[in-house]
Amino acid sequence: MSRAPVMTLDGPGGAGKGTLASALARELGWWLLDSGALYRLVGLLALRRGLDAGRSQDLDAAVTASRNLDLIFEPDTGAGQRVWLDGEDVTDAIRTDAVSGAASQWAVQPSIRQALLARQRDFAVPPGLIADGRDMGTVIFPEADLKLYVTATARERADRRFAQLSGMRVDANLDRIYREILERDARDASREVAPLKPADDAHVIDTTGESVAASLARVRRLVREKGWI
Ligand code: DC
Repeated sequence: MSRAPVMTLDGPGGAGKGTLASALARELGWWLLDSGALYRLVGLLALRRGLDAGRSQDLDAAVTASRNLDLIFEPDTGAGQRVWLDGEDVTDAIRTDAVSGAASQWAVQPSIRQALLARQRDFAVPPGLIADGRDMGTVIFPEADLKLYVTATARERADRRFAQLSGMRVDANLDRIYREILERDARDASREVAPLKPADDAHVIDTTGESVAASLARVRRLVREKGWI
């Protein structure tokens, strides 16, 4: 059986890979795997069940729940991908700060990552897959046909997050956001399992000071070289 083409986008949060990934998935008509959403679903379930990542019996329960996630990623028609868990639309629920915090705690657990591994590979079906995450090109799809590592300076990512929160009329402090981003970068890059780093064969796309349209145009050139558009 011929395997479906896979394109991976990895990189830190706020670098713009989610925006690029969903635009590409729509343009190519391919499936989109937002792997961060999987870790967020685990975080949400764990919070709701009162599970604590530091307790071994809770970790066992979370691993079982991760293996059996009853989820639906609705195809994105332009307004963003909607995510369903156990028949409930949790698209907004998985974006809260509490769930972000829980997701990052569970994401460092090797047994949780292992439980989600086959699940993620199952997304690679025709006509093709755009996989967005931290370890898509390094661990989940090492044989991917095209790998991108999308990044931007911490300062730029802080500015973007600040503008986004201000637009949502959420009170935000730019300095604090910047410090949190630096801390998270250090944690993500130094963790033992699937640390955040570019795959050896990844194209590094630095989006600092660049519009989404300009980044997309650069990525489109790589996609065109593959003959996908
Ligand atoms: O990209 P995001 O913010 O939705 O990711 C949520 C959390 O999951 C974040 O802490 C990083 C982690 N994550 C991961 O460890 N591996 C992935 N492939 C995707 C996300």
